[in-house]
Amino acid sequence: MIVIDQVSKSFDGKASYAVDQVSLTVAEGETLVLLGSSGCGKTTTLKMINRLVDPTSGVITVDGRDIMRQDPIELRRSIGYVFQGIGLMPHLTVAQNVEIPLRLRGAPAKEQRARAHTLLTLVDLPPETYGNQYPDQISGGQRQRVGVARALATDPKYLLMDEPFGAVDALTRDRLQQELLELKARIKKTIIFVTHDIFEALALADRIAVMHRGRIEQIGAPDDILRRPQTDFVRHLFGKPARQLKLFKGNAP
Ligand SMILES: Nc1ncnc2c1ncn2[C@@H]1O[C@H](COP(=O)(O)OP(=O)(O)O)[C@@H](O)[C@H]1O
Ligand SMILES: [Mg+2]
Repeated sequence: MIVIDQVSKSFDGKASYAVDQVSLTVAEGETLVLLGSSGCGKTTTLKMINRLVDPTSGVITVDGRDIMRQDPIELRRSIGYVFQGIGLMPHLTVAQNVEIPLRLRGAPAKEQRARAHTLLTLVDLPPETYGNQYPDQISGGQRQRVGVARALATDPKYLLMDEPFGAVDALTRDRLQQELLELKARIKKTIIFVTHDIFEALALADRIAVMHRGRIEQIGAPDDILRRPQTDFVRHLFGKPARQLKLFKGNAP
């Protein structure tokens, strides 16, 4: 379980806050989607969880342990991270990219190769075909899958995904979302997924945390947020999807 308790982050000596008194809990096996527009503090929140950014105040615990009292390297082994923009190494092959976290951890070369093989198969990139290709030789959707495979390399309990499907076309994104749901059913990870796309949030989330200007406006199951928006911001944000779903279903919300 990940618990974020009253966490704030200021990058300018407390003149302003990128993340402002955020509290949320992510339960075992849950997919929590952080939804909000650009600049609202999603990436900063995610980065604080694996100590890429230190909070200005507040406490984050992972499995009951305060992350500031843990070795960051150790902590990151239990937390896979798919970066915004993916960030594959262009001069390394697909398989080598997936092996990076294992190499950093000092795993034997044979184990690295075997694990990359398993993971590329898992994300539907047959290693015989794709393992030796370079990132610029594969499609955008395939690169996203490599990013997911890399995040899973150390078999982390938690997966943090920062707009992982942001840079692909709508059809590819639908397919990747579907694949993620299927993958999740098989590997049972706890996921925090960041997006600015309301429909993506509705498709993937067990619960959605709506962020606005560094704060959380509302947290709830998709249906709950659609039917019972608690602030004007959330009502406005979900107005259009709520109307569209009503059209599709022919009933409430
Ligand atoms: N390293 C940094 N230094 C200064 N300001 C930052 C830094 N990282 C993020 N910010 C600012 O914090 C705010 C939130 O950014 P971010 O968490 O990246 O938002 P999001 O991921 O929701 O688009 C923005 O105003 C951004 O400019
Ligand atoms: Mg971001």
